[in-house]
Amino acid sequence: MSLSERSRVELGVNPWAARVAEAQRRGDLLDLTCTNPTQVGLPYSPALAAALGRAAEAPYSPEPLGLELARAAIAERWPGRPRGLDASRVVLCSSSSEAYLHLFHLLADSGDELLCPSPSYPLFEHLARLAGVRLRPYRLEYDGAWHLDLDSVRAACGPRTRAALLVSPNNPTGSFTTRAELAAMARLGVPILSDEVFASYPLRASRLRAESALAELASADVLVFALGGLSKQAALPHYKLGWVGLSGPARLVEPALARLELSLDTLLAAAPPVQHALPELLRLSEPTTAALRARLHDNLQTIAAACAGSPVTLLDVEGGWSCLLRLPYLPPRDWSLSLLEQGVLTQPGWLYELPPAHLVLSLLTPPPRLREGLERLVRAVLREV
Ligand SMILES: Cc1ncc(COP(=O)(O)O)c(C=O)c1O
Repeated sequence: MSLSERSRVELGVNPWAARVAEAQRRGDLLDLTCTNPTQVGLPYSPALAAALGRAAEAPYSPEPLGLELARAAIAERWPGRPRGLDASRVVLCSSSSEAYLHLFHLLADSGDELLCPSPSYPLFEHLARLAGVRLRPYRLEYDGAWHLDLDSVRAACGPRTRAALLVSPNNPTGSFTTRAELAAMARLGVPILSDEVFASYPLRASRLRAESALAELASADVLVFALGGLSKQAALPHYKLGWVGLSGPARLVEPALARLELSLDTLLAAAPPVQHALPELLRLSEPTTAALRARLHDNLQTIAAACAGSPVTLLDVEGGWSCLLRLPYLPPRDWSLSLLEQGVLTQPGWLYELPPAHLVLSLLTPPPRLREGLERLVRAVLREV
């Protein structure tokens, strides 16, 4: 028997994951990495589950692109209110991860290439392999703020490039794409996939920041797919609903929609109850996302205060749910492993292709745990330098 190359997995646990599992078994580990909003003590209204339960009573009448009322609710609330975006240009699926697979299948054949930011979301690698397409990374560089390295974009572009991925704000750098960067990407002449799942969580103002790619590129001669979902926008990852908004000239959008319709119809993965209940779910989740926004801001201040005057640098963060710390570079030390010995779980930057001595922290961490973890972290670094 031979199994497919696209389903290949590295069997066995990687050494870092094995050490984390061992530390977890010992107990007393302060986890500073959790980005699951349902596990960090945020308030959720009981009316959410009741709304979903009522919606489950509606008869089943599947719509491949999603129910009109839900598509309209997304279009009305899209951050930045893109001109020309209405229900006819929004499609639904079960998550933004699933949306990526539909879009990769729509845009690329086996062996074709997609431009993708680095550092960024590690799931891209697996999604691309499942879809049989290749990722060509371009760099984000840091000089006190994150910038898209346009030379590396040009170098990554080739005859098999079929689309360019952008993540704004990016995970884990928390950087938004600027208007100038977005315009430069649009000039490549390939469709843009703009991941905007964290767009409703800006952490500071910026004059240069691009709004949704759907708004910025509304009149450009380029096909744009912007991704969002309940998972982040409403802090409801377990309700499973993602969406894609489209913009571009009708001659590009219409055939893309027709093919997406077939692809979505083949799976019909977006559950009807969550679609029926969507306007209510968006309203009822507002207290949760307000508490989440306050948590993100407070935690960022706590981290900045803990790092001030220490050898640990908090990198600039504009939005999203994570932040990056740069620690003293002391090879061959892997700081995330040293910190495990102090009972603190962080994510090593290499998981995201970041340079050595970077750590990724979740800004969702419950505040008492964050304070204690940061104390241990800064103490451990001061002992070593
Ligand atoms: C940048 C980015 N895009 C997409 C997703 C996936 O979201 P969903 O739960 O809608 O699949 C994540 C999950 O963390 C993410 O970080």
